[in-house]
Order: sequence, then structure tokens, then C-alpha cells
Amino acid sequence: MCGIVGYVGKKDAVPLLIEGLKRLEYRGYDSAGVAVVADRKLGVVKTVGRLSNLESQLLRQPLAGSVAVGHTRWATHGAPSEVNAHPHCDCDGRIAVVHNGIIENYHALRASLEAAGHTFYSQTDTEVLPHMIEAALRDGAACLGDAIRAALTQARGAYALGIVSADCPDVLYAARQGSPLIIGIGEDGDRFIASDVPAVLSRVREVIYLNDGEYAELRDGGVRIWNIKGDEISPKVERVTLSAEAADQSGFETYMLKEIHEQPRVLRRLLERNPLFGGGADFGLKPDYFRKLQRVMIVGCGTASHAGMYGRLLLEQYTGLAVEIDLASEFRYRDPRIDPGTLIIPVSQSGETADTLASVRLAKQWGCRVLAICNVPGSSLTRESDAVLFTEAGPEIGVASTKAYTAQQMAFALLAIWIGSIRGTLGDADVQSLLAELAQVPDAIHYVLDRKDLIRVIAHKHCDAPSALYLGRKFNYPTALEGALKNKEISYQHAEGYAAGEMKHGPIALINEYVPVICVCTKTRDEVYDKMISNMREVEARQGRIIALASDGDTQIVRFAQDVIFVPAVRDDFSPIVNVVALQLFAYYAAQARGTDIDKPRNLAKSVTVE
Ligand code: F6R
Repeated sequence: MCGIVGYVGKKDAVPLLIEGLKRLEYRGYDSAGVAVVADRKLGVVKTVGRLSNLESQLLRQPLAGSVAVGHTRWATHGAPSEVNAHPHCDCDGRIAVVHNGIIENYHALRASLEAAGHTFYSQTDTEVLPHMIEAALRDGAACLGDAIRAALTQARGAYALGIVSADCPDVLYAARQGSPLIIGIGEDGDRFIASDVPAVLSRVREVIYLNDGEYAELRDGGVRIWNIKGDEISPKVERVTLSAEAADQSGFETYMLKEIHEQPRVLRRLLERNPLFGGGADFGLKPDYFRKLQRVMIVGCGTASHAGMYGRLLLEQYTGLAVEIDLASEFRYRDPRIDPGTLIIPVSQSGETADTLASVRLAKQWGCRVLAICNVPGSSLTRESDAVLFTEAGPEIGVASTKAYTAQQMAFALLAIWIGSIRGTLGDADVQSLLAELAQVPDAIHYVLDRKDLIRVIAHKHCDAPSALYLGRKFNYPTALEGALKNKEISYQHAEGYAAGEMKHGPIALINEYVPVICVCTKTRDEVYDKMISNMREVEARQGRIIALASDGDTQIVRFAQDVIFVPAVRDDFSPIVNVVALQLFAYYAAQARGTDIDKPRNLAKSVTVE
């Protein structure tokens, strides 16, 4: 969603802001803007659309200065427009604010500010902030920092803020409540703020993760932090372990293709580095907790929820625990019978998804322990959970999740085997053989990647169909859902994922000679294989175009399918981690043929930080 970059130092700020905002483009946005302080004046330039529009406007209307904030906006309150784009200013145009999040009580705040004579131009919730700061200064706040604190004590909701003022030409302020914001420490006194580390990865090797309820003052060479009560806090500086290349495209035509290809390496590293086996399992919750555990509730959104569905099957099979999964956006409004003995497992790439975080906060109120599966160190989710299993996939820039998904699947596999070993539902021999078979998954994915040319041919053949159906059962039911989600989000082809057993209960009505039906029917010892074949016969009888995803060596499958994508045979429990890679490539090449913006599909945001 929205992106923030701010700078204070000795350099010309605008090129640094544009560089940082470009690295945040993947989060999704519809307009952009910058505010620069120079010679005790504030210059603001905003445009609708891509950052290239902002760059062109900045050529016509140049801004120079070394204290500045920039923003990419993903519209929530008010349509995408220049006037609604950030930064927003006070009445005198001397204070500029960029904001991620939502000020929930902005209606009331705006009404009282308007009654006091403030003039508003936009429909945004954000615009109340510069006016509140202005009002606090008029009411006698001793300095800009005090005025910001006074404004924040009245604002309810979520925010990450960057603030500059023409009257304080050497400082950049930042604040955080519920939306991520980091401070980057660069060379030569450079200080940055950003909503995500990759934005400033090429410029900083040390960061400070601002906590909720804190605000910061950044100067050339200095950072000070206070809590909302005004007590100064000593900053905790952390080294950035990611390399700058981790956020680069590395010669691939898109980030998504690069990230699809990174999967064998990511999964190998996760297997090697996992804290569960060999590493002493000291990741926040002790083995004894898992011995006594009765029940697990998994929550997540979108792709992460599909990983959770797969995780449920593994946990049930290996641990004997009662396991449920729900969409975080539903879970938070249900009235579930959750007792303090239930372990909550939120799954999230970004660790900032609003619904997932809200579910975790509820569960904590109920006294539950929380074990997060998450990709982003320092994210809100990792900070609010009792324990974290990091997926270690590195920055995922393509909006459609790929490597984070297979890493979540692998994390669930490791967790389920580990809990099974602790609870004694898996013996030593079972654990060893499961781990040995899991270790074959990265190589199997390599083989899938090697067959991408064939997958491209099949994808191009079917990409013009009005709609596609994805079917799978048991372990590969989530694979069918994820395959369909990938297809619709990047190629815009309508696609539905279904449990194959449900086909006769409705979706079979959709089948005709124009509808490709992608059937996930890989097998080794799979008891649902024959059922999948029956479903394929039913599709065939209605002239559906069957594309089968089958295991190497399955000689009978060609009789039932128009096209077959063969993948290496791995144990059924782990086949979804391999199979989904073929479906990622299938969706990728369909999107390529349809000419969409693959890394930044329309209307989508990488990190959904609002409800
Ligand atoms: C789809 C996709 C989304 C995310 C969802 C949750 O490709 O990326 O469905 O999975 O928005 O995001 P995280 O995992 O960051 O909580």
C-alpha cells in the first residue's frame, strides 16, 4: 500500500526520495508526491499515476533541498487525484505531512478544525494532521516536536508519518502507531525514514525500528526518539543483514520471475537454518508448551491463508492436534470458542496485514500464545508474537506472492514434523525419513523450473479463455486455490479454485469446450488420485479442456488430458510445494501473453495495511 521515504542530510534529497519510492513501487500506488524544505520555504509537487509522472513534473518544477519527505499513495479516503495525493499541508503551506494508515476519528477532528477556521482541500483523513500540528503551534506548543506530540495524542487509528516544516529547516520528524516505519542510518550523517527496509537498502547498513507510540526527530548525523508521553527513549540500532542485491531484479525480466527462480535456494536455506531441528528450538516457545498443547488456530489472508490450509493438513497428520484455519478478516469478527490453551499461528509475508494483526491482538486478549510464520524481521507481527518462525525468503517485491508462499509451506512442514517429534506422534525414524524427503523438494523445484518453456507453450495456448477452473484434493486443494489466485491476480483471467469433490455441486455447470480445467493430480501413494481421475473424466465428458499437473512416470494421464505438465514425483504430503511452482509459471506466462503489468497488477497492493 502507501510508501514513505524521507531524508535529512547534506545531499540533494529529491533523487534519494525518488530512488527510495521506486523501490517501494511494488507495494502498489496510484499517485505520488514530495515536499522539500529549502531557504525556510516548503516546495510541494504531486502527480497522479506512476512515479515517472512525478519525475517529469519535477523537471518542470524542480525542488532542491536536503530535508524532504516523499510518498506513494494507494487511495483509501478519496479518489486517486493530485489533490488527494500526499504530502498534505497546513493553512499556511509551511508544514507537510506524509501518512500511511488511517486516522479513524478524522471526521470529528476535521469538523472542529474547520469550525476554528482551517481550510481543507482534499477528501483524505491525512489532511487533519498538518492542521492539528499548526493548531498546536498556534496554541503555544514550544516546538514542532511538542506540537506533533499534541496532535498525535488526539488522533485515533493507525499511522506512520513523515513531517517537515519550513520553520524547522534542519529536521525531519517521524512517528509510528500501527503502521511500519524504520529509520535508516546512512554514511556521512545521512538519515532516512522509510516504510520498508528495501526502500533504503542501498543507502543504509543500520536501522532503527520505530515502535508503536514513538516519534523521532532526525537531523544530519543525529536521531532522537520519544514516546507519546514525551519521555526520551534510547534508540536500538540494528544491523541490516539483507544485501542490496536481494532487492534487485538481477537480470530477470520481472521481480516475479526472479522470485519464482529463487525458490530452490530459499527453501534450501530454510531447511539448513531452521531453528527447530539441530538449532535447539529456542524460538520463543518451549518444547514443553507443545507437549501439553491441544488446539491450534491458523489465521492469514490470501496466499498466506492457502499456506495455512496446507499447514493444517500437515499438523493434523503429524501431531494429532485439533487444527483450524480461518481467513483473518473473518476470524476477527467471529465469536470463536478459543480458550487460552489454543496456539494461534498467524501466517504473513509482510507481517503488516491489518486483519492478521487484528486477529493476533484479539487472541492475545483471550490469553492465547502466538507463533507467527513471517518473512519480514522487525515487522509488527514479529514484534507482537510470542515466537516467530522466519521464512527467510528475503524481500519479495513482485506483488503476487511466490517464494514467500513456498517458504511458508516449508515452514509448516518443519513445524509439523518438529511438533510431532516432541509429542511422540512421530517416531525418530518417521522424522528422519520425512526430513530426508523434504530435503528433495528444492531439487524437484529446479526440475520444474527447467521445464518452463513447455509450461509457457501450454499457458499461451489457453490464455485467451474467458475463465479457468483449478481442481485439487486434500494436500493439493490449497494448491488449486493458490494456482487460481495467481492466475487471476496477474493475468486478469477469471479463475476459480475448487476442491475437486465439490465440482458436481455447482462448478461443473461452467464447463464447456472453452474452459481450461487445471487438474492437480500428482501422486505417489495418494489415495485421492483415483478420485481426481474420475473428476477429469467428468470434465472430459463435457468437452472441458483438461490440463493435468501430473507426476513424472504417470503414463495413463495422457489419455485423459489435452495437455500435461509433468513434475518430479515427491511424497504426496510435500507435493504442493513443488506443484505450485508449475502453477506460478503457468499464471506468469498467461499474464505475459496477455500483456499485463506482472510485478504491479492493477488495483493490488503488496502489503494490505488497512481493512
Ligand atoms: C497474493 C498475495 C496476497 C497476500 C495477502 C496477505 O499473491 O500476495 O494474497 O498473500 O495480502 O499478505 P501477507 O502475507 O503479507 O499477510
